[in-house]
Amino acid sequence: MSRIAIVTGGSRGIGAAISTALQAQGCTVAATYAGNDEKAAAFTAETGIKTYKWDVGDYDACAAGIAQIEADLGPVDILVNNAGITRDAPFHKMSRDQWQQVIDTNLNGLFNMTHNVWGGMRERKFGRVINISSINGQKGQFAQANYSAAKAGDIGFTKSLAQEGARAGITVNAICPGYINTEMMSTIPDKVMNEVILPQIPAGRLGEAEEIARGVAFLAADDAGFVNGSTMTINGAQYLT
Ligand SMILES: NC(=O)c1ccc[n+]([C@@H]2O[C@H](COP(=O)([O-])OP(=O)(O)OC[C@H]3O[C@@H](n4cnc5c(N)ncnc54)[C@H](OP(=O)(O)O)[C@@H]3O)[C@@H](O)[C@H]2O)c1
Repeated sequence: MSRIAIVTGGSRGIGAAISTALQAQGCTVAATYAGNDEKAAAFTAETGIKTYKWDVGDYDACAAGIAQIEADLGPVDILVNNAGITRDAPFHKMSRDQWQQVIDTNLNGLFNMTHNVWGGMRERKFGRVINISSINGQKGQFAQANYSAAKAGDIGFTKSLAQEGARAGITVNAICPGYINTEMMSTIPDKVMNEVILPQIPAGRLGEAEEIARGVAFLAADDAGFVNGSTMTINGAQYLT
């Protein structure tokens, strides 16, 4: 059976790898994005995966966007909450705006998206929700009080919803990537990357987006139904919980 999947932030970075991995697994995929039309158009041209633009921090936009995807493709079976941003600053310099933007996208986005597919999944007695959290939600990170708080919140959200969805055939799992080679990493200065980050990773390298996508594909499969409420760590042994 071909499953319908939404991947937020699915047009580039880790999300693009997730979209194509689910497509390769036989899913019909819709990838959402926030504003980078050029990347989204190139992604659709390359993969045939439809892209949809809205802000996951906006509840009404999520409701309308999901309704459009369901009209185009059918009821959503799989939701991957991957869209995320960073707005780093040491706490004493962090603005309310930096705090709010990250909470709106990285935490409220999960509510806004999941709330709009949850009822349908419950009715159809099947669902897969996969939340992309972060190593920094597990261990905290200097200058990321906003990001770490949101990503830790994603894990609590995952564990609670897993218990609520289990009887309805819905699984809810989180993945905590370590440092992955995407544009998000390009904001980190070379000196910090080489002298601070890489020495902390026993694997001696950044992860690749495809390595996160492999985890998502596993959790999204029909036969992963007993894997529920878990936090999958994919970080090259950098931080072990
Ligand atoms: N890269 C890492 O090392 C790393 C490590 C741990 C966790 N993560 C998490 O993994 C996820 C993907 O990260 P990435 O590195 O692939 O990021 P990325 O390359 O910066 O891509 C982010 C994607 O999310 C979309 N997006 C951002 N804000 C959005 C919003 N408000 N509404 C809808 N879409 C939005 C972007 O859309 P546009 O293309 O339109 O901008 C883009 O498609 C994030 O949740 C991130 O926190 C990443």
